[in-house]
Amino acid sequence: MQIKIFDTAEELDAYAAGLLANTVKAKPNAVLGLATGSTPLGIYEQLVRLYESGDVSFKQATTFNLDEYVGLPASHEQSYAYYMNQHLFSRIDIPLSQTNIPDGTAADLQQECAEYEAKLAASPVDIQLLGLGHNGHIGFNEPDEALDGGTHVVQLKPGTREANARFFSSIREVPERAVTMGAGSILKANTILLAVRGADKAAIVKEALTGPITTKVPASLLQTHPRVIVLLDREAGRMLE
Ligand code: F6R
Repeated sequence: MQIKIFDTAEELDAYAAGLLANTVKAKPNAVLGLATGSTPLGIYEQLVRLYESGDVSFKQATTFNLDEYVGLPASHEQSYAYYMNQHLFSRIDIPLSQTNIPDGTAADLQQECAEYEAKLAASPVDIQLLGLGHNGHIGFNEPDEALDGGTHVVQLKPGTREANARFFSSIREVPERAVTMGAGSILKANTILLAVRGADKAAIVKEALTGPITTKVPASLLQTHPRVIVLLDREAGRMLE
């Protein structure tokens, strides 16, 4: 596991965007695993800049997003499909047909999960961007006695709904369930890029990276992956130093 600590958020964002862009430059039909939330916003901004400066094209790339809320259509401003279109897909040259996000409005969610997993198996992820939840979740794989391997429907923990309520007008509007790639689906990526910012994540960063490998801290499973690059700002990394 390679751990890099950056003095500023901008440096972290530029480094992460550079790694994603380099993956596509080296392999134009690369498969990118993408995340939502506040952490990737600056990374996507930098990626758009690299695209706009002619440095990289995403015409042949494919993307898979980690997760989506159950019940929110792509037209809902808090859906992850809306977020991805707004912050990245509409601003680069990737054909939307090459972007994949679980459909949280599917009538048969089990079938949606199985189909998503089959698509992932057919197009293995070259590099997977991850954020980290305060409870150690990755994607929406919440701490539990056991974790699901593949894409599945998950009941969100109250703390996760509270953390995400900042994007909704009230916590009651935060969906109770999500579709998420499983821990197994995530760990199949060739390379994993875990980006974490802020003092409020310092303790969970330390626990996930240096504590016991346990499903109670889903991100600790990353310790078992051979190619993980962890990008931290000073605050998130302060308990490691
Ligand atoms: C988002 C996702 C989540 C977030 C995590 C951190 O697609 O899968 O695991 O990465 O909740 O969110 P932020 O970046 O908002 O702190």
